[in-house]
Amino acid sequence: MIQFDKVTKTFGARTAVNKVSFTVEQPQMVGVIGRSGAGKSTLLRMINRLTPATSGRIIFKGEDILALKGATKRRWQRDCAMVFQQFNLVPRLDVVTNVMLGRLNGHGTLKSLFNIFSKDDVAAALSALDRLGIAQEATKRAEELSGGQQQRVAIARALMQDPHMILADEPIASLDPMNAKIVMDSLREIHERDNKIVLCNLHTLDTARTYCDRVIGMRDGLIVFDGPPSELSTDVAREIYGADESFNEAATSTSIEGNGQTNPAGVMAPAAAVSG
Ligand SMILES: Nc1ncnc2c1ncn2[C@@H]1O[C@H](COP(=O)(O)OP(=O)(O)OP(=O)(O)O)[C@@H](O)[C@H]1O
Ligand SMILES: [Mg+2]
Repeated sequence: MIQFDKVTKTFGARTAVNKVSFTVEQPQMVGVIGRSGAGKSTLLRMINRLTPATSGRIIFKGEDILALKGATKRRWQRDCAMVFQQFNLVPRLDVVTNVMLGRLNGHGTLKSLFNIFSKDDVAAALSALDRLGIAQEATKRAEELSGGQQQRVAIARALMQDPHMILADEPIASLDPMNAKIVMDSLREIHERDNKIVLCNLHTLDTARTYCDRVIGMRDGLIVFDGPPSELSTDVAREIYGADESFNEAATSTSIEGNGQTNPAGVMAPAAAVSG
């Protein structure tokens, strides 16, 4: 479905993503893990063309999406909806309008300019919010919602784009464990019910294990692991995170029960959790 062919991104002398090649053949839920600076965000942002690749190709339905320009590029950007750690909602706008913004690319410029949405748009936005369990918040301003609710609005907005795939860059990194679970459950449900690729950058191993069919581990811009969560041993995790013997997987946990080592801050960056 989507194929990476030696995709590279350099920032000056720094190679953020280094000749990365992999293929997602079917609608999988893929987790990308790795310590801070490994290249996870850059990888995701190149798919959506938010960051221009330096070289390589990303093929979708026989087309190199890195070569798309103008209207076809904008169409592609609508086809792969992004979900961000910081939600990226318009704080003063009401929730339902924020969701309808997902449709803007589909309208003519004039219509977008005057912010006119059809009854169908409103109905579709309410239905997306309902699916995420927050239809009752539709008329509130986005800034009045909790972080977890705001991320669900952002996912509803992504659904409004009717995308081929969802790209989520650390969607739960700012959330407490309870809201993190609700958001990850929602992404998994979208993957399963709509049969869509969900590509999700995650800081924590346990989340990748719980929700993903496939885990890609990145280190210094390279893929150092690609396989099912069952093959993700502690040794492999050490390799991905560049950690030594003292590496403790529980330190990267977001779970509210599980290993019993609740992390009240919700999420701890593996880089910070790795000593030495
Ligand atoms: N706009 C930029 N300009 C210069 N260097 C950048 C830019 N964006 C990323 N980099 C560098 O590219 C490398 C990969 O960054 P990236 O943000 O993709 O990592 P990441 O795995 O998402 O990290 P994190 O877990 O902290 O989000 C890092 O060394 C980073 O400093
Ligand atoms: Mg990142």
